[in-house]
Amino acid sequence: MSVHIGAKKGDIAKTVLFPGDPLRAKFIAETFLDNVIQYNTVRNMFGYTGEYNGVKISVQGSGMGIPSAMLYAEELYTEYEVETIIRIGSAGGMKNKVKVRDIVFGQGATTDSSILQNIFNGQVHYSAIANFEVLDIAYHLATESLSEDNIHVGNILSSDRFYNEELNKKKLADYGVLAVEMEAAGLYAVAAKHNRKALAMCTISDHLITGEETTAEERQNTFTQMMKIALETAVK
Ligand code: ADE
Repeated sequence: MSVHIGAKKGDIAKTVLFPGDPLRAKFIAETFLDNVIQYNTVRNMFGYTGEYNGVKISVQGSGMGIPSAMLYAEELYTEYEVETIIRIGSAGGMKNKVKVRDIVFGQGATTDSSILQNIFNGQVHYSAIANFEVLDIAYHLATESLSEDNIHVGNILSSDRFYNEELNKKKLADYGVLAVEMEAAGLYAVAAKHNRKALAMCTISDHLITGEETTAEERQNTFTQMMKIALETAVK
């Protein structure tokens, strides 16, 4: 096992879906995968491996925030030979064209996190980006089930703070930032460090500028739609 994941080598698939909430990992495994084993219960950050259309897939909770997501990504890439991690999460809309229930693909992830600054000793503002090949597959799969008006690809903000009154949301939206979540930039940096692949896709659960919100039922439905896109991407 690694420090935070109680799996043996070979227990985890080459592609891992990476929801923030470990109970979402459980839901995905129980709802969509066959022949499921649970490989992790350490800190209740559940991880499962099963088969989707006969292909081995894992689902691992990442926890909330860049520090948590980075440590699980680091161990998945370095200790379990994982090739691709696909974050599936929720995000708050920032640009007006992004509506609640839409899907946003983080082509790039801007961040206020000092972790990325520290990696480069403050010398540069690193551009954390998704793997293009995985993004391309996921985007085209999304267009099969959703209207193009409801799919967005571009810059997202990976914020250290959920409650951030100081954040100039309008300016970020003016500069093209589509939505805010809390993990993608860290995931992208770890993937790049190990020459592996990563993508973050998010459903919009609320809107920071318009104040629009979704019900729990709407969140579950849009999340399920996104999960199917992530699973199809994973087996492609
Ligand atoms: N995820 C969903 N909504 C969010 C928000 N408003 N800020 C950060 N992460 C989010």
